[in-house]
Amino acid sequence: MSAIKPYVFAGLIRRKEEVRAAGVDVIALDIGSPDLPPGAHIVNALTAAARDPHKHGYGGFTGTPAFRKAFADYYARRFDIELHPEKEVLPLLGSKEGIYHMAFAYLNPGDVALVPDPGYPAYTGGALLAGATPWPMPLTRERNWLPDFDAIPADVLARARLMWLNYPNNPTTAVASLAFFEEAVAFCRRHNILLCHDNPYCDNGYDGYVAPSVLQAPGAKDVAVEFASLSKSHNMAGMRVGVLMGNAEVIKTVGTLKTNADSGPYLGIQEATLAALSGDQSWRHEVQEAYRGRRDLVVQGLRAMGCQVDAPQATIYVWAGIPAGFNSSAEWAEHLLVNKGIVVTPGTAFGAHGEGYVRISLGAPTERIRQALDRMIGN
Ligand SMILES: Cc1ncc(COP(=O)(O)O)c(C=O)c1O
Repeated sequence: MSAIKPYVFAGLIRRKEEVRAAGVDVIALDIGSPDLPPGAHIVNALTAAARDPHKHGYGGFTGTPAFRKAFADYYARRFDIELHPEKEVLPLLGSKEGIYHMAFAYLNPGDVALVPDPGYPAYTGGALLAGATPWPMPLTRERNWLPDFDAIPADVLARARLMWLNYPNNPTTAVASLAFFEEAVAFCRRHNILLCHDNPYCDNGYDGYVAPSVLQAPGAKDVAVEFASLSKSHNMAGMRVGVLMGNAEVIKTVGTLKTNADSGPYLGIQEATLAALSGDQSWRHEVQEAYRGRRDLVVQGLRAMGCQVDAPQATIYVWAGIPAGFNSSAEWAEHLLVNKGIVVTPGTAFGAHGEGYVRISLGAPTERIRQALDRMIGN
């Protein structure tokens, strides 16, 4: 435990509560938890299961066959990828749980996990808790927030067991092409590295943008797995439902580890998942439109303040350069909290290369986002 710090958002939540306790009306734009509810048919499936006396038992280590088939069918429809529901699909209690356990399944002390910097903190936290070494791959605007594989030293590559990638990306909002995934698959194959692609934002695209899956790259299943989640795409973050898909050997190994750690997702949540994946999707257009409106508000507002901002093509965040007059991400974030009652996440919470940026979540009511911008722009 001495190797890790408390999870970044745990610290932010404490700080937010302190300011709130002092009587400030705090607008929270930090955590990426959608404010809008899931479609009514999803909630109905959950409540119907909750009333069913036969559905309160364990949900099965690997979920129900219907759950696994629903994800395999979704990937077939969405990406034209064929997955064996029994051998290549494993339910997770949210993708974060799987990310964390992946480290325990594959990393020994002395091993390296290649992690994006800035990046989702659980890649690093998992590696450290497993006694391994996270090696940051810098993401920079100059390289469109894509890592430079050639910059990884040979001795690091020799010890690398896992590589984490995540596009559409949190926190930078960058997207990656299928050609980039093909390059990543070829690189990982060459260096005998297991490629872990974390894809929770693939269905949060704007203006017609459609994100690819790493599993679309030819031969990907030999060296790669992908994590999917319904947290952001279907507003189900609190239900804790995700899935690991791809290489059958990895699915089996992580599945074995998980039989010692948890006992599968609640059946009601599995029913909600079936409703989410197989049922009506039209409600999601409205949600995505709400995000688009918020994105436009934030991008325009911040640009008017002189911040450098690229309008995201996907995700539920805006990644904003800090304005002139502030020396660091933490300084601007602290100023916004103390003087404006707004919580954003300093870029450095995601790694050293997040310096100079903050991440603003669009998972808050539009009116609150408008208020936050008014406060930021006002003196
Ligand atoms: C890149 C990334 N991966 C994984 C997660 C966790 O998602 P889940 O709710 O499925 O655990 C998040 C949540 O913010 C995320 O941004």
